[in-house]
Amino acid sequence: MKPVLCIARPLPGGDLRPLEALFEIRGGSAPLSGAALVDAARDARALVVTYIDRVDVPLLSALPALSHVASYGVGVNHIDLDACRARGVLVTNTPGVLTDATADHAMALLLASARRVAEGDRIVRAGGWTALDPAWMLGTQVTGKTLGIVGFGRIGQAVARRAAGFDLKILYTGPREVPFPGARRLPLDDLLAVADFVSLNVPLTNETENLLSAGRIARMKPGAILVNTARGSVVDDVALASALESGRLAAAGLDVFRDEPRVPERFRRLPNVVLTPHLGSGTRETRAAMARMVLDELQRVARGEPPRHRVV
Ligand code: DGY
Repeated sequence: MKPVLCIARPLPGGDLRPLEALFEIRGGSAPLSGAALVDAARDARALVVTYIDRVDVPLLSALPALSHVASYGVGVNHIDLDACRARGVLVTNTPGVLTDATADHAMALLLASARRVAEGDRIVRAGGWTALDPAWMLGTQVTGKTLGIVGFGRIGQAVARRAAGFDLKILYTGPREVPFPGARRLPLDDLLAVADFVSLNVPLTNETENLLSAGRIARMKPGAILVNTARGSVVDDVALASALESGRLAAAGLDVFRDEPRVPERFRRLPNVVLTPHLGSGTRETRAAMARMVLDELQRVARGEPPRHRVV
């Protein structure tokens, strides 16, 4: 009998055929969550999840045969890693392949927020562009300003490479110095005080939850613009909404939210916020590369080979 593989969500661009020789495959054509996921995965040895599928103690307890969680994505905050470690469940993820797409999206949000792209689009569509007025809809100049990158790992550095093309001065926070031409490492509070743009690129961990607290948002440079392609819980969203409503912060570009797919009403009402539905890695090419990586890990582990990207 082949071991069972359960796939919680369709993986765009993933060819499941090579896995058919190794696994009995359940799921993969429609999203499975809650009781349906437990039902399909009850005797599964391997489980594929995405960042919205929580792998917690109740799920692990319901899946006694599970020995491999293959996560489609780089962030692993949705997985109780300690519980997996304690149970001896291997966890793999897909780092690297989504770096460029996520950095591109961070720049798209930065530019769209600074230049009021989404707001302008809405106004034009609604027939609100009725006169030529040079003082109307003015945005924030990007070229030559200062970008503070919070988290200077793979994605943060990819944002910096793109920002260099806009002559942005790069500041970053992180646990260690990274050799990056022209970039300067600063403590977070100092970075927030001077950055015109702040891009969040940290993983969500116990240390980064609410990293951008109300106190830190209050310390940001007046008129600054925040871009978040990391995780919603890195930011105090109530304090952020207040800072955007009062105009203390000029704008924000937000791709991630605390309780996705729920987006706080206060953000949805604000014209100076550009909202996207967690699209950081959302290109056809990247999502297909992530799928290939997940399928490769499943095959390697099933054949007794070491995984390439082991988290636990
Ligand atoms: C990740 O990989 O963590 C992304 O947020 C998913 O798109």
